Amino acid sequence: MADIKTKTASFGYQEVPAGEKEGMVRAVFDSVAENYDLMNDLMSGGVHRIWKSVLLDRLNPQPGQHLLDVAGGTGDIALSFLSRANERPIRGRKPAKVTICDINHSMLHAGTKRADAERFGDSVTRTCSDAQNLPYPDNHFDAYTIGFGIRNVTDMQAALTEAYRVLKPGGRFFCLEFSHPITDGFQNLYDTYSFNVIPWLGEKVADDRESYQYLIESIRRFPSQQDFAGKIRRAGFSRVDYENLSGGIAALHAGWRL
Ligand SMILES: C[S@@+](CC[C@H](N)C(=O)[O-])C[C@H]1O[C@@H](n2cnc3c(N)ncnc32)[C@H](O)[C@@H]1O
Repeated sequence: MADIKTKTASFGYQEVPAGEKEGMVRAVFDSVAENYDLMNDLMSGGVHRIWKSVLLDRLNPQPGQHLLDVAGGTGDIALSFLSRANERPIRGRKPAKVTICDINHSMLHAGTKRADAERFGDSVTRTCSDAQNLPYPDNHFDAYTIGFGIRNVTDMQAALTEAYRVLKPGGRFFCLEFSHPITDGFQNLYDTYSFNVIPWLGEKVADDRESYQYLIESIRRFPSQQDFAGKIRRAGFSRVDYENLSGGIAALHAGWRL
């Protein structure tokens, strides 16, 4: 979140000069890249796969579509999109394509070493670029996804405006992000787990307590489900809605570019 007037941004619980946040976030993901997929499974008990699967159910990938997966990291969402699209009858359409965009070269590189990375050949393009300033033309993609990425972006509103710009009319927008549990009791339980277990796991598995402490803090600073839906509407999207996943630990926001 960037405060334009004072030019500060939240980095976990710290307020830092907005111009410095990007470099700090980059350092976090440089540090976690190698263990990212393993840590994701350990931290969420594998549940992040279910959340991503819900996103893909709603998106309903089809041949002929071109997906832009921003903050795509190692490519979980993008590669699952292709697997699903390729299972559908082609009916004269071109095969589906994905472009994975991430600001962090180490995360993209870790994605090329995944067991399934080679499977899709030139249906996958990887570009190292910033969600706030995408190097793609207007009206270009059929769908845009961003999974567990937008809370790391300095100016979220700028990233949402860019999402709107690069989507074709009729294009779908989906944002999967950690959010806020819907009951106080559940929030307390979740706080106990996340502030104790996750930094500990970060230290034991990846020898990196601080990066995982940042990840937890950045989740707490993220806007409520309703406030984030408001930002998506402000970027121009229509029929904006969200669904809570696992009691609000994560939320899936969706909208249409009409
Ligand atoms: C938690 S990972 C999520 C990766 C993947 N989407 C997933 O769901 O597994 C967050 C990703 O956001 C990327 N990121 C952070 N700031 C970004 C920005 N301004 N533009 C593009 N990517 C960014 C990081 O490099 C990192 O790969």
